[in-house]
Amino acid sequence: MKRLSYISTFSRPLTKKEVENIGKVSQTNNARDGITGVLLCCGGIFFQILEGEEKRINNVYKRILSDDRHDQILCLKSERNVLHRQFPEWSMEVIDLDENNDMLLQPIKILLQTLGESHRILASYTPSEVLQAIESGINPLALAPRYTDKIIFFTDIISFTSITERLQVTEVVNLLNEFFTICTKAIAGRGGEVTKFIGDCVMAYFDGNCADAALDAGLDILAELEILRNQAPPDSPLRVLYVGIGLSKGTVLEGNIGSYLKKEYTVIGDAVNVASRIEAMTRQLNRFLVFSDSVRLGLSDRWRPVRLGDFHAKGRDEIVEVYSIDDVLTLHKSDFHKLKLDIKQHLKLISIPEEVLV
Ligand SMILES: Cc1cc2nc3c(=O)[nH]c(=O)nc-3n(C[C@H](O)[C@H](O)[C@H](O)COP(=O)(O)O)c2cc1C
Repeated sequence: MKRLSYISTFSRPLTKKEVENIGKVSQTNNARDGITGVLLCCGGIFFQILEGEEKRINNVYKRILSDDRHDQILCLKSERNVLHRQFPEWSMEVIDLDENNDMLLQPIKILLQTLGESHRILASYTPSEVLQAIESGINPLALAPRYTDKIIFFTDIISFTSITERLQVTEVVNLLNEFFTICTKAIAGRGGEVTKFIGDCVMAYFDGNCADAALDAGLDILAELEILRNQAPPDSPLRVLYVGIGLSKGTVLEGNIGSYLKKEYTVIGDAVNVASRIEAMTRQLNRFLVFSDSVRLGLSDRWRPVRLGDFHAKGRDEIVEVYSIDDVLTLHKSDFHKLKLDIKQHLKLISIPEEVLV
């Protein structure tokens, strides 16, 4: 037998009747499927324990995961080969703790709320692959590394060194947060996964067959930044927030990498290096977005890729064929040298004079 417990959050306020209905349907289905357990609800949080034959538990949990009355579902424990039921008499006992003022139940209410809050905090630091594993009752540390085809996506801020040199740390952090928010939304919105922020750089990946989506995400970021620059007050550093974007495709190893003390779920491989190197080339190529030939080959005929040439990516023997697309968003208005000077000039005007800082 299998026993599984999870917590989740109401996706919207649910009436007493709606919760009772969940209980009724659960009792009917579970009695039919030989499933037993308990469902606690309190302060907008569900906590449920399900026990029964493994296949049937997997089926019901699949239905529960896709139920839109709750979200942020976190599997707390998934046990196999369980010999005895803890709730043999309950096909699904619903206990509404909000209806119960018993002081003895107070600590349980607090425990559930704390668990829910901790989960929300941890979720924002955790890659979605790891969260998905946890939510499905799989220990993410047990996920074996696997080879997959990925499109690797790198972006970073142009003249970030000048920005950090000229601005106060809080202003730099605000600027980074604006940039990271735009990137995370655009990348997730197109089905990609942000794997890490490295200083001012964002590393993300898309499935190998999603070249269109990866390019669309890049253009979404450039379009959002243009709006941000135009709408920012004249003395804002956001007026000179420009980025380079580089994409490459290849087979990478995806999985847990690190020491037994600290692990990271990420991707490793040559495509990662190439994406990072060609992203750096955006400066010399006077483009805000470039991609390798391997990405171009996966694009649909919606695009008209422009070949920029063959280049030696730093530290690599092999030559990389680099492409871009002709779009107002990807082309520099003048050239990179002039852009860098404009950024420096703007930062000089808006930053606090050095004598004041001293
Ligand atoms: C918090 C929560 C717990 C649930 N627990 C169960 C359950 O134990 N058994 C069950 O069959 N459905 C449960 N459901 C309902 C399922 O998500 C799904 O709506 C139902 O199984 C569909 O049943 P039907 O195909 O008979 O309509 C639960 C839903 C929620 C939101």
